Formats: sequence, C-alpha cells, structure tokens
Amino acid sequence: MASIPNEFIETLLDRIDIADVVGARVTLKKAGKDFSGLCPFHAENTPSFTVSQQKQFYHCFGCGKNGSAIGFLMEYEGLDFVDAVKDLAQLAGMEVPMTQYAGQQKHKTNLYAATEKAARIFQQQLKASPQVIRYLKQRQISGQTSKTFQLGYALNEWDGLIKRFGADEQQALAKTGLTTQNDHGRVYDKFRNRLIFPIHDKRGRVIAFGGRAIEADQKPKYLNSPETDLFHKSNELYGLHLARKHSNEDHVLVVEGYMDVVALHEKGVCNAVATLGTATSAQHISNLFKVWDKIVFCFDGDNAGIQAAEKAMITALPLYLDNKIIEFLFLPEGEDPDSFVLKNGKDGFLAAIKMAKPLADFLLEIISRNININSIDGKAQLYEKAKGYIRQLPKGAFKTMIAQQIGEISGVALKVTNQPTPQQKKPETGENPLRKLISLLLNTPQFCENLSNKLNLRALSFKGIEIVDKIIEIQHNNPQINAAAMMEHFRDSEYSPYLGHLMRMYDHLDESQKALEFEDILNYLNKLTSKAEIERLRNKQLQSGLNSAEKQALVQLLRQKSNQ
Ligand code: CTP
Ligand code: MN
Repeated sequence: MASIPNEFIETLLDRIDIADVVGARVTLKKAGKDFSGLCPFHAENTPSFTVSQQKQFYHCFGCGKNGSAIGFLMEYEGLDFVDAVKDLAQLAGMEVPMTQYAGQQKHKTNLYAATEKAARIFQQQLKASPQVIRYLKQRQISGQTSKTFQLGYALNEWDGLIKRFGADEQQALAKTGLTTQNDHGRVYDKFRNRLIFPIHDKRGRVIAFGGRAIEADQKPKYLNSPETDLFHKSNELYGLHLARKHSNEDHVLVVEGYMDVVALHEKGVCNAVATLGTATSAQHISNLFKVWDKIVFCFDGDNAGIQAAEKAMITALPLYLDNKIIEFLFLPEGEDPDSFVLKNGKDGFLAAIKMAKPLADFLLEIISRNININSIDGKAQLYEKAKGYIRQLPKGAFKTMIAQQIGEISGVALKVTNQPTPQQKKPETGENPLRKLISLLLNTPQFCENLSNKLNLRALSFKGIEIVDKIIEIQHNNPQINAAAMMEHFRDSEYSPYLGHLMRMYDHLDESQKALEFEDILNYLNKLTSKAEIERLRNKQLQSGLNSAEKQALVQLLRQKSNQ
C-alpha cells in the first residue's frame, strides 16, 4: 500500500461491501453471520470458502487464501494492487488520489532505469574481462548461462560505475545502493572487482545486486545491495523470475547461494531459487506456495545446514496447509548444491531430491532430538516440546496426524481442537497469549481502546510485540477502521502471511464472546507483566538497591499479586 495513501484505502474498504464484490463472481449463501461458497481458488465440492461482512474479509479453510476485497480482486482477476484499488474505487464512485501515486511511480521508474543500466554496464565489462571469464569457466558456467542470469563484472575502480552515469542520474544511482559514502562525504562504487549477480524481481526487473569476490584474499566473499525502495530481501528470492517459467514442475527448490542456482540451471535443473543471505521468511514461503504446491529446501549436511533447515521449518509451520508439501534435502557434509550437481550431474541431483525428508519426519526428528523416549521423563519432555510445535500448525489433517504420532510415542494423547465448538469455554490463556491478542485486535480493532494504559507490554519481550504497537497506532488514527482495512496496513509486512491465519482464530465466537476472551487475555498479560516487573525490581534490589519510588512500586505490585 506504499503508493496510495492509507486513509484512502481505509475509506474505500469502509464504503464497499466485500460480500458484493465476491458475490458478483462467486455464488454465496448466508451461513450464520457469514457467507459461504465454493472456493474459486481451488477445486472443491463442499464449501470451505467464507466471506465475513463484519470483518470485510474472505477466507478459505481449504487452500488458506484470505484477504480483503482488494486482495480478492487481485487474486481472482489477476490484478496488481493499484489496479484492484482502481476497480473498487470505481465501484464506490471514488477517485484514487493519483498525484502521490504518480510521484512514487516516477521515483521507482528512475531507480529501475539505474539498476537496469548498471546491469548492462556490468555485463559489458564482463565480456571485456578475460580473467573473470576464466573464473566462470573454471566453475563450469557457460556463456549461455552467464547471459541468462545477466552475470557481470564490477571494475576494480572507485568510480567505475559512477562515471558512467550522468549528473541527472546520480541521485537515482545512490538510491539503488550501488554507491556508498565514506565519513568525509565522498561517494564511491559499492561493488569493486567483483563478479556481479543481478537480482531480479519476479517480473524480471533488476532490483539489486550480489557481488562475489574474485581474489582469494578479498573480503567479504559476498557483498549484497542494502534494502532499498526496490529491494526488500525478505520478499525476494534469487532466480525466481526464471524458476517461475517452470511452474509446471511439481516442486521448487530453495537453496542458499547464488552459485547454487546458477550451477543447477547450467546442468538443467531450472526450478531453483536462493534466499539472499538471510533466513527463509514467511513471505518467501507464501510467495512460493502461490506458484508451486511443494517446496524442497536444500541445505548442506553440516550443523549450520541443519540449523537453517530447522529455522525454515519453524517459519513454515503456520503456513503448512494440507494441500501443501515441504521436504528437506540434506547434502553430504562439505557439499553444496553447486558442488553436488557438478560432481553427480542432473540425474544424480534428481535422485537425491527423491530422497528428501518429508517435513513430518524432520519435525519428529527435531522434537525427539536429545530425548530418551524410552524413559518416562523423556516421554514427558517429548510431549511438552511437541505441544509447542503442533500449536503452530494450522488446523487440518496434517496437524491431527502429527499429534497422533506424538501421542503414540509419548503415551499421552495430545488434544487437537480441529472442530471449533461454538460454545467454547474459557481460553487457555497460557498458550501464546500474544497471538491471541493480535488475533482479537485484528478482528475488532476497536478493542485497542481498552488497551492503552492498561498494559505495559514492553515489560514482556515477546517477539512480534511491535505488531501490537502498530495496530494500536493505526486504530488511534482511524478509530472506526474495520478488520480488512487493518490487514491492508500489513500487506507488505513480513508478518502478513501469519496475520491472515491469525484472523480466523476466533471465527467461532460472536462479538460479546470475543470481548470476554479479550478481557481474559488482558488479565493474563497483566499478570505476566507484573511478574516480569517484580522480577526486574527484585534483581535491581539485590544488585544496586531501589529508590523510594521503585520500592513503592514493588510493594504495590506484590500487594496486587497477593490479591489475585
Ligand atoms: N552470503 C552473503 N555474505 C557472505 C557470505 C555468503 O551474503 N559473506 C550469502 C550469499 O547469498 C551466498 C550464500 O550466502 O550466495 C551462500 O554462501 P556460501 O555458502 O558461503 O557461498 P557459496 O554459495 O557456496 O558460494 P561459492 O560457491 O561462490 O563459494
Ligand atoms: Mn559453493
């Protein structure tokens, strides 16, 4: 929503009714307080697609797609964000404020022009650099593959690029991150004497660069563009524009390095993408699942590889719907996909992929790691550990199956609430209260008004607490905002794939039940914060003593606690 003012989106989503927008394209029936119908985004015979008027949000329980009326139009009509907004605005008789939009577009157009020009210059310089061509040859990269990836070379000069850009282009060049400034304000080329990997967005436009050292003693080995207006690395994957042409493959491979993608491509494995020197993000996974139903993560077989895989798995759990598949391929120690495919060829690599470990197996392995499941203690540990992971999984057959397996191993049945019962009683506020809080605030942003002053959330160092801050701020600026408009604020956020799922946590409750739930969670969080505060003050007391205000605060907190 970067280019159109937030206020406009909020007003738009307030004026139109998602039930009309969807209803014009999908047959909907009233079902309780919501509408339901057959999901237009996946094949099904019984409806799992619901539209909530109150939230102005749609959700499919089958394929997991969800969003506002804008998101629906984007998905259904294949529109980009701006065009979907324009269509809806027309429906509502509103005019999209395009001046600001035009300004933003102009800015981006200048940046794209700079990145594209730089990529061309780097490419030409490669052609004129025998030693870099030799380097590529030695790594078995053909001229054709270099061309496909637009590989290039950055000269060993401080202003090799700068001097090829006119005075009127310098500002854009700087904004692409291709130049840097030293403490004395001198501007120079960021990439020098490096093999250049242009990074493309999914449409194939150059948005950033990676540069590999060529000399053995050149540090660091890889240098990457910083975050810019064109480049957000938790959103982008190296090679996606090429891999997308192979969407008919039943899976996509996620590898760690530029050279892995390039070497695999060279050997005829064209459905690979790489993360850009970061961990796999939820956004990455969610983007890939839009094109393929199966992701195979390919990591080195060493400890670092297993850790990276574990991280990727934890990120993926909340997005792991029943119609999706994730597998992990661990290469032999010391190998990466590049070296492996050079040694074993395409067939050898494809054979290895067939041996990839399903997520369920890897998950069970991680859960039971370092636990002796033959002892009673071990079983209890396993049960506790498993609960944490299983809680992250969306409801469905997979979750049930994993829970069953854990139940068999540990001898304790894990409860999985697959069928939400309408009159669910008191919440178990002990489990992930932050997720619950966020879900309720997204559902009913007006709950924010009961939140200020009551909670000192800062005292708790929950991951994701900044989302709560953001929601409060947004609601403060627009007290009547609805759930869909709230979600639109997070469209470009790394959290957006999670938030869509969190939205439906309380679908089975009506508004007054949600209010009760909200109160319970506040109480619970208040207890947690006072506990944290008491602990902080007590520690301070031991270490450096308390001043009188602090002493008073501690007494008060302890008194409250004994009253609870
Ligand atoms: N990386 C990075 N910065 C570094 C090292 C690595 O950003 N200093 C990122 C790069 O995206 C790189 C990936 O991590 O492609 C994998 O790094 P590594 O395994 O060290 O390199 P390889 O891909 O094996 O590269 P090469 O084969 O050229 O040595
Ligand atoms: Mn390598």
